[in-house]
Amino acid sequence: MTKISEIERIAVLTSGGDASGMNPAIRAVVRTALAHNLEVYGVESGYEGLIHGAFTRLDARDVGGIMQRGGTMLLTARSKEFRTEQGQRKAIHQLNKHGIDALVVIGGDGSLRGAHVLARQGVNIVGIPASIDNDIWGTNMAIGVDTALNTIMDAVDKLRDTASSHQRAFLIETMGRECGYLAVMAGIIGGAETVLIPEVETTLEEVAHAVEDAYKRGKTHAIIIVAEGAHIKIQDLAHYLDQADVGFKTRVTILGHIQRGGRPTAFDRLLASRMGVHAVEAAVNGRFDVMVGLKGREMVLMSLEEVVNRQRKANMEYYTMTRMLAR
Ligand code: F6P
Repeated sequence: MTKISEIERIAVLTSGGDASGMNPAIRAVVRTALAHNLEVYGVESGYEGLIHGAFTRLDARDVGGIMQRGGTMLLTARSKEFRTEQGQRKAIHQLNKHGIDALVVIGGDGSLRGAHVLARQGVNIVGIPASIDNDIWGTNMAIGVDTALNTIMDAVDKLRDTASSHQRAFLIETMGRECGYLAVMAGIIGGAETVLIPEVETTLEEVAHAVEDAYKRGKTHAIIIVAEGAHIKIQDLAHYLDQADVGFKTRVTILGHIQRGGRPTAFDRLLASRMGVHAVEAAVNGRFDVMVGLKGREMVLMSLEEVVNRQRKANMEYYTMTRMLAR
């Protein structure tokens, strides 16, 4: 394949919280770049490694056998130094020193914000959205979301087995920071009685009423999904329900970081591969300060300026659906 732009050397890094599917994205970036006769460098540990010049030349074989692995072979970090102007200057110095013409950043909203900061200082950047939170504006799905949802679904199914055997209410906490996407989807696919998300204020009384009502309707268990950013903390809710004597005794499960790991699903492998290819092709075509996004079934390029200035929230239609289906 022939090159259209002047790019000869491209680098790729993963940054922020890891997301399953980052590896297939790295693989796609590296192999697409090689197909376009570019030299490819991997940067270890995100912006932290960029600041300290942790570049390694990557070949097709270096990214072999990583498709099915969770985490990121390039390692990741949340860099405090990169948030400073001095840190950004160091990062740009390293890119120039290594003769890097374009950089692909794979990460969540904070990482893409960092990418936009570099782009405004003249770095040729293409972003790839990867975060289980699915809070990134400009893409229907970020890499890692589908794998996380499948992990949550598996956990909720297992918890329901024990919940109904003991006739208990299980309060299950999902990740997602300030976005209730994972909790809402988990509520639908896990058959929850009620879902608590940051986007909607719910009272302790309302939750207690829903759980008690489920008990009175003869349900053998209740599943309550609580997003980590919800207004009510999961332990406070458990305490309240036990005191309110809603019929079921409660148990709390915080799913935590298991939501971030594991083999990427077929959906995430495909999404990551498509995004990796599209990102490099954007760079080859001279399109920078953009993020690759999924719109419908199509890959699109979104301006990073727009992406970092908007925040994606949980879909209220789906939230309403969780309430209607809990009968
Ligand atoms: O952004 C991904 C995420 O897993 C959030 O859902 C969560 O709040 C946060 O990262 C946890 O971060 P850390 O792994 O640094 O504890």
